[in-house]
Amino acid sequence: MNPYKELIDTDIQGKNILLREDLNVPSKDNEIVNDERIRAAIPTINYILSKNAKVSIISHFGRPNEGKFDEKYSLRIVAERMAEILNRSVHFEEIPLDQKSPEYTNDITVHENTRFLVGEKSGDEDLARKIAKNCDVFVMDAFGASHRKHCSTYTLSNFAPATCGGLLIIEEIKNLKKIFENPKKPMIAVIGGSKVSTKLTVLKELLNKVDVIIVGGGIANTFLKSSGFEIGQSLFEESMINKANEIIKIANKKKVSLPLPDDVVCENKISTSVKELIKIENEDIIKDIGPKTSRKYEKIFQEAGTILWNGPVGVFEKKPFENGTKDIASAICKSNAFTIAGGGDTISALEKFANISSINYVSTGGGAFLQFLEGKELPGIEIIKKL
Ligand code: 3PG
Repeated sequence: MNPYKELIDTDIQGKNILLREDLNVPSKDNEIVNDERIRAAIPTINYILSKNAKVSIISHFGRPNEGKFDEKYSLRIVAERMAEILNRSVHFEEIPLDQKSPEYTNDITVHENTRFLVGEKSGDEDLARKIAKNCDVFVMDAFGASHRKHCSTYTLSNFAPATCGGLLIIEEIKNLKKIFENPKKPMIAVIGGSKVSTKLTVLKELLNKVDVIIVGGGIANTFLKSSGFEIGQSLFEESMINKANEIIKIANKKKVSLPLPDDVVCENKISTSVKELIKIENEDIIKDIGPKTSRKYEKIFQEAGTILWNGPVGVFEKKPFENGTKDIASAICKSNAFTIAGGGDTISALEKFANISSINYVSTGGGAFLQFLEGKELPGIEIIKKL
């Protein structure tokens, strides 16, 4: 039995639909840098419109102070971009939702940032009652914000006459579940980034599912340090050394391979060079994996049945430390495995270095993606489950 209440199974013909999307797109100087999250919401919006329903779209944007309007975090630019993509008019409602409930007079309305509202983050019931007023169905589609137990991602479902999951959130759940249920083996996870502490739970969880875990970035440094290697002045987490050792022990016990770099790109006060791991000196700072390590990982990807990628393996934003992440991105894109990627940096790296369209599934989630992989119950998904 399908455990989720889905939009496609819900009668929305001619109704008023309150739609929560994650329109939290990267922006700079009031310009959208990447509109993927807006594009990812389009199928759900089009589906709703195809049923002659009216849609009021709500979302957060950035992390503004509650109770205060700040132009920098206004969703106006997002509404404008959405109108361009849809090639039709999108009404932007700047009056805050706590002052004016959605009225469903226009086909598509985008409301101002929910995080300007007092009570959004605390999941306030009075606020939810105001926002849900006049709607017939609340469609939760914001997978990227589904780990937040906020008014617009959770409480609204207590006040809307009906709640269901939109096309995007259902697609995300189905694809991410492939990793848990019958993944094609061998399954490889690449977990990069700067801190073990933020990825500890996901690393532990993945040990029960994967055949190989490749760690990258500062996380790899902590594992190298805990394995007794000299890492010079490289970024690592002292407090996570024991945890890293624990993970290595569990991996050995479960026969999960946890390969570490053989060579790295180091920077010191004088130069930048590729060094064998055993030749790292006290003043060196590891900034990327070396070519020998890239080749080693590429071989692993060639054999893979499933590859999951979250987090870069080096300081990929800066030359000459981009090659490791570039190699990983292109090897994953070329692989015949079922490939899945998530997280802001990972997506940026894929867009910069590879053909992102060859990834089988690109998640719109960052924190939500990780928490889903950790096996956590996400509040925004809980509300679309059938009882
Ligand atoms: C994200 O970008 O991961 C989501 O939009 C959630 O944003 P938040 O971490 O500010 O809640």
